Amino acid sequence: MARSSSEVPAARLPVEKLERAQALEELARLAGEIAHHDTLYYQNDAPEISDADYDALRRRNDAIEARFPDLVRDDSPSRRVGAAAADGFGKIRHRVAMLSLANAFADEDVAEFVQRIRRFLGLEAGASVEMTAEPKIDGLSISLRYEKGKLIEAATRGDGTEGENVTANVRTISSIPQRLVGADVPAVIDVRGEIYMSHADFAKLNAAQEAAGGKVFANPRNAAAGSLRQLDSRITASRPLGFFAYGWGEAPKLPAETQSGVVAAFARWGLPTNSEMKVCDGAEALLAYYRAIGARRATLGYDIDGVVYKLNRLDLQQRMGFVSRAPRWAIAHKFPAEKAMTVLRDIEIQVGRTGALTPVAKLAPVTVGGVVVSNATLHNEDEIRRKDVRPGDTVVVQRAGDVIPQIVGVVVEKRPLDSAPYQFPHVCPACGSHAVRELDEKSGEADVVRRCTGGLICPAQRVERLKHFVSRNAFDIEGLGEKSVQVFYEGGFIQSPPDIFTLEARDRAGEVAIANLEGWGEQSVRKLFAAIDQRRRVALDRFIFALGIRHVGETTARVLARAYGDAGEFRRAMIAASDRDGEAWQELNNIDGIGKVVASAIVEFFAEPANVDVVDKLLAEVSPEPLEAIAATSPVSGKTVVFTGSLVRLTRSEAKAQAERLGAKVSGSVSKKTDIVIAGADAGSKLKKAAELGVTVMSEDEWIALIGD
Ligand code: IVH
Repeated sequence: MARSSSEVPAARLPVEKLERAQALEELARLAGEIAHHDTLYYQNDAPEISDADYDALRRRNDAIEARFPDLVRDDSPSRRVGAAAADGFGKIRHRVAMLSLANAFADEDVAEFVQRIRRFLGLEAGASVEMTAEPKIDGLSISLRYEKGKLIEAATRGDGTEGENVTANVRTISSIPQRLVGADVPAVIDVRGEIYMSHADFAKLNAAQEAAGGKVFANPRNAAAGSLRQLDSRITASRPLGFFAYGWGEAPKLPAETQSGVVAAFARWGLPTNSEMKVCDGAEALLAYYRAIGARRATLGYDIDGVVYKLNRLDLQQRMGFVSRAPRWAIAHKFPAEKAMTVLRDIEIQVGRTGALTPVAKLAPVTVGGVVVSNATLHNEDEIRRKDVRPGDTVVVQRAGDVIPQIVGVVVEKRPLDSAPYQFPHVCPACGSHAVRELDEKSGEADVVRRCTGGLICPAQRVERLKHFVSRNAFDIEGLGEKSVQVFYEGGFIQSPPDIFTLEARDRAGEVAIANLEGWGEQSVRKLFAAIDQRRRVALDRFIFALGIRHVGETTARVLARAYGDAGEFRRAMIAASDRDGEAWQELNNIDGIGKVVASAIVEFFAEPANVDVVDKLLAEVSPEPLEAIAATSPVSGKTVVFTGSLVRLTRSEAKAQAERLGAKVSGSVSKKTDIVIAGADAGSKLKKAAELGVTVMSEDEWIALIGD
């Protein structure tokens, strides 16, 4: 019998088959998954999936958003670049956002890119379009602010809007000039480019690190990132870092009218630029460049992961503009993944916050594309069965970019004679509870993920939940990041979230001694306690999100906070909702934005006495503030506001969440009902419409001043 699309889990359906509710579910899943991988890549310098897999997640997200534009989430990956800045460094807001690039993989993608430019600019099919082609450096991007020619500030990309202040460290990099020289050096310019480590310097550094018993880096990119992100600048100074300038952010006056002209000016001013950059015309010329550089890749002396093509004329770049996170006038043409053969020694099962068991391949170390790899992702149980991967097998591993590689397939001829198919565990390796694949209510099909049913008795889940509890969009406790949570958990200081708030009292009573832990001292402990105290008042939506209830992301948490008003009422109603014939269950299901799956997940959470105990103990320590109470005293309560243009101090989702928390209604379009338009850089038609309708327009700074930061 033919299946209707609603019977198959949304994650496995092609985008064009998704129904609205499934699209909503998929967008939520993708937002979470992409954010997770962004953190691993940008903050921890330890990615888990290949670039190709990551790009596929992003492409799927984009395609679903294109089909259902009204479902685009506030925290959509399409509105974000990278991950938020890490703790430890001060933060710098980029005056002009640091964006990303769209990717091309096949020759046809490049031809289509050039055609798209011609179409957009109204040029004929064969008309000449000058483009620059240059290596895509596999390093980390940086924004350098020069005022009157002097280096003033340096910031990493961070999440594209706000990066880490690494000025002190950048000043120690000898290839980055402290001063620009030349008659046409502008009063102000943010120079953007890539910091990298050459192959030779990487090899020397690792040899020295190994000899000294220090950290050995997996690849030059990690080494460059690790060297730049040192809290002690003397360490950065001792590391040989290179730099190539290839772009700019805020730059009120540019020295040329073309991309290649500005880069030539950079070189004249003393900035290192890449000598491989060429001006080409047409897709064929770009592809010829790509092939030529690809052939010389190993001899360039530094890692590149593709080629970047940019429209040369700046006036045309301006006309083409941007789509959410990338310019329309540029594209990154990626190199295909590199492969190698090795032996799969074992399959290790890791347990996540929601109990998901994730298999990781432990490999005999092998060099793939110049990097030694010993772990690979295996995704899930079905993937292992599909590929019939077994410990002891010889496998083909693929690595694309700077990531944990994937297993492409098994070399069956090399399989040991006594080999048997891998049996995915049916009990949790961390706590021994049953691990099950839940059935999809509608389809009756098993979920792809096997989950531990141990809940809070499972140590692996407990620690992951704690990490979620303190994460940026939950309690966001300064000085209490993932690593400290892990250490505190292992030390028995914190077992569940309420313990965070009794830490100081227990420290005083001599039951715990944080200051004795490595890396901690009296002062940092005092700071931590102050930061914890600050969070005793927390917005209700953050509180609900922090509980880590399955399917309850930030948006749903906000919906619930608004619907129930206060924490006590929310708790009471969710317990009452376990009666599926009762009013509370009906009420929950009637809330706009809460579907059956979410409602069931919340009720299941509160049906577990251990969870209610955590909520109660937490409520004895913290006071979640109703969104209404916050809104009541707010100057923008009840106002309809519209954000337009690119914001500098806030991301769009932050701005929206904050405005809503303060009781404002955020709308996507300007009408007579609009009270305030907040206009960032490059605001266009909405600003015009606001002027026509006489609506109050304010800058981002004025808005922040109004709402009191
Ligand atoms: S241009 C508006 N040129 O690739 C975007 N980026 O995938 C400006 N990258 O964030 C970027 N080499 O970190 C550009 N020659 C190059 C590059 C390059 C490396 C990095 C950069 C960017 C990322 C996008």
